[in-house]
Amino acid sequence: MSRAGVHKTLDVSINRKAYRAASGESHDVLKGVVFRLEPGEVGAIVGPSGCGKTTLLRIVAGLDADFDGNIARPASGKLGFVFQEPRLLPWRSVADNVRLAAPLAGEDEISALFAMLGLSGHRDHYPGELSGGLARRVSLARAFAVSPDLLVLDEPFVSLDAALAAHLRSELAALVARKPVTTLLVTHDIDEAIALADRIFLLSPRPARIVGEVRVGEARATRGAKTFEATRAEIAGLMAREPA
Ligand SMILES: Nc1ncnc2c1ncn2[C@@H]1O[C@H](COP(=O)(O)OP(=O)(O)O)[C@@H](O)[C@H]1O
Ligand SMILES: [Mg+2]
Repeated sequence: MSRAGVHKTLDVSINRKAYRAASGESHDVLKGVVFRLEPGEVGAIVGPSGCGKTTLLRIVAGLDADFDGNIARPASGKLGFVFQEPRLLPWRSVADNVRLAAPLAGEDEISALFAMLGLSGHRDHYPGELSGGLARRVSLARAFAVSPDLLVLDEPFVSLDAALAAHLRSELAALVARKPVTTLLVTHDIDEAIALADRIFLLSPRPARIVGEVRVGEARATRGAKTFEATRAEIAGLMAREPA
């Protein structure tokens, strides 16, 4: 899959995105969000609640075309989307939820994903029988089963307890290590961004624009307290430069 001229990077260039209210008034949500991710790079978007993160992800994923700017996605355009809520089909088993989303995935690949995510014993369960943590795992399995060229995750571990969220973060890191994929993760949790990303983009309050970018130097697997402290300090420094 390395034909010459095939587009491989994710290029995001949003000049402006506005929502129009029923009254006809229009509200700017995004204003100047421009960045590129190299193949296999993990980018994290960090910003306050309501600043436009979900709006940005939907545009990047191609679910919203009503904006001023341009998005170039990696060539074949296979997309894995992990929503804020797992959004599983309640009347389908765990295995069928994944198969329906990824009809081309082989049973070996699905079994490997289930094994990595601790889901092997839950293949025949229905979403209503799963804990919140298991449901999130199924939504990760579903996103990876399509062998995406672009993976987008919208606050995937929100409202889980801290230990479980940490566990799922390390499982996500393991999945990305096994099969590198260009990934855009949205979060309001700076430590989640530091744990998972190669680069972190900081958004301003609405209308969101990128106010700073931080590169997390160390390899994901070996990031420890020192890296977290240094990166947090760098982020705080960039945020402090922003007028309130
Ligand atoms: N479909 C919509 N129509 C009008 N306003 C919207 C719509 N979706 C989101 N908004 C508004 O746009 C802003 C950004 O929303 P969102 O992208 O969901 O923020 P975030 O994900 O960062 O919390 C919010 O003020 C929200 O109320
Ligand atoms: Mg959101």
